[in-house]
Amino acid sequence: MADLPPELEEELTTLDKDFWVSGKKLKEIVQRFREELDEGLSKNGQNIPMNLAWTGLPSGKEKGTVLTLDLGGTNLRVCKVTLHGDRKGAKEKSELDQKQYKLPKDLKTGDADGLWTFIAEKLEAFVQDKKLGEEYSKEKPMPLGFTFSYPATQDRIDHAVLQTWTKGFDIKGVEGNDVAQQLREKLEEKNLPFELICVINDTVGAMIASAYNDPKTIIGAIFGTGCNAAYMASLSDIKKLPSNSERTANKQHVYTGDKMAINCEYGAFDNAHRILPRTKFDTQIDAASPRPGEQTFEKLSAGLYLGELFRLILVDLADRSLLFQSQDTSKLREPYAIDTSFLSHLEDDESPAFTATRDLFSSTLSLTPTDPEVEFSRRIAEMIAVRGARLCACGVAAICTKEGIREGHVAADGSVANKHPKFKRRWADAMGEILGWEDGDGAARIEITSAEDGSGVGCAIVAAMEIERRGGAKE
Ligand code: GLC
Repeated sequence: MADLPPELEEELTTLDKDFWVSGKKLKEIVQRFREELDEGLSKNGQNIPMNLAWTGLPSGKEKGTVLTLDLGGTNLRVCKVTLHGDRKGAKEKSELDQKQYKLPKDLKTGDADGLWTFIAEKLEAFVQDKKLGEEYSKEKPMPLGFTFSYPATQDRIDHAVLQTWTKGFDIKGVEGNDVAQQLREKLEEKNLPFELICVINDTVGAMIASAYNDPKTIIGAIFGTGCNAAYMASLSDIKKLPSNSERTANKQHVYTGDKMAINCEYGAFDNAHRILPRTKFDTQIDAASPRPGEQTFEKLSAGLYLGELFRLILVDLADRSLLFQSQDTSKLREPYAIDTSFLSHLEDDESPAFTATRDLFSSTLSLTPTDPEVEFSRRIAEMIAVRGARLCACGVAAICTKEGIREGHVAADGSVANKHPKFKRRWADAMGEILGWEDGDGAARIEITSAEDGSGVGCAIVAAMEIERRGGAKE
């Protein structure tokens, strides 16, 4: 490891101080987090919306074939999912056939019609490709589930009014509208025989798909481009839930379970900036985002922003002639030029003299870092990832302490959880600090497990439960 010159050492000490979140601070954050979760359950329009998801947990016996759509940050994924339930002789509980379609670059900032046309066309292409057309008709439409991983108000499971775009999306004409209705209209316009049964969030999908196989599942969490979780809340705790008699009067379906999945949307935690330790780089990210002031927690902890934080720190130091002197930093100056995988590669690099890191700097940014610059970059990559993982623990710890949950599985998905090698250990360390776990005490724990496919299998299970609830009849 190279020694750092004193001026870089000094910068690092300051950054370390700004980015380190102590165990004491984590506990204070969790305390405030719990208050915001409670506020969201009691009234509509609160900072953390605690969106009702209108589904219970699966029995594990759900069966049927469903097409599912998943609108991710870079791809649209279409799947045909066949659920076998607990059928004897079936090797797997579910089968899946899928295709991914890359989202066109300008779709994220385009308009609603562009979005729905793209989705309908790809759905049609999938049906042709997989030769599914003959199995369905206008009289017998294909059941369709939609994983829409943005905050949405749901009055029932096949309805979802987008509250606000997150994760850098900015498509005009969708916020404030029912995405289920917009999709349905496009499918009708194109004469496509689908019946949209459910709209779900990715966190709900992760929880349901995992609970289908693992009864210890307590939470579905995404640590990826965005950061969010879902859990099962007792109906008596959801103070804002309209009563069944009000729902009957409004001709809405009644909900018969004693618990309901809640999509917390806790990426919006602390939008009032009361507790999270924000650095000047976090402020910069927020100001340059399409929705300044929103998703404060997510902007500090989720994958979309970790690489950008790293880039902004390097730019700041380059501007002050502390890094990359007399090199062309134009690529480094492009917003979002670095993604989270860059950081994990740096932290993971065990190649002699860090050649892998140097290659990455050269191929991504056309920079040739000196030894101290390599060392400095590695230390910042670590600092940013550690802060992210420690903050991610706060959301889950808030749900668990609020619900009195002491053990179980947090079914997690997303690029940070899956691809960042040290994330899980750092997350678990922070959980231990918050919840007071003693090292090696063997006590039952809250553990991260790899979620089953939420947006494919999870979405299909929710659709199958809903079809069953309707008894085959339409509402
Ligand atoms: C953002 C979205 C949320 C989603 C999360 C993870 O926070 O608002 O709906 O669950 O990202 O994808």
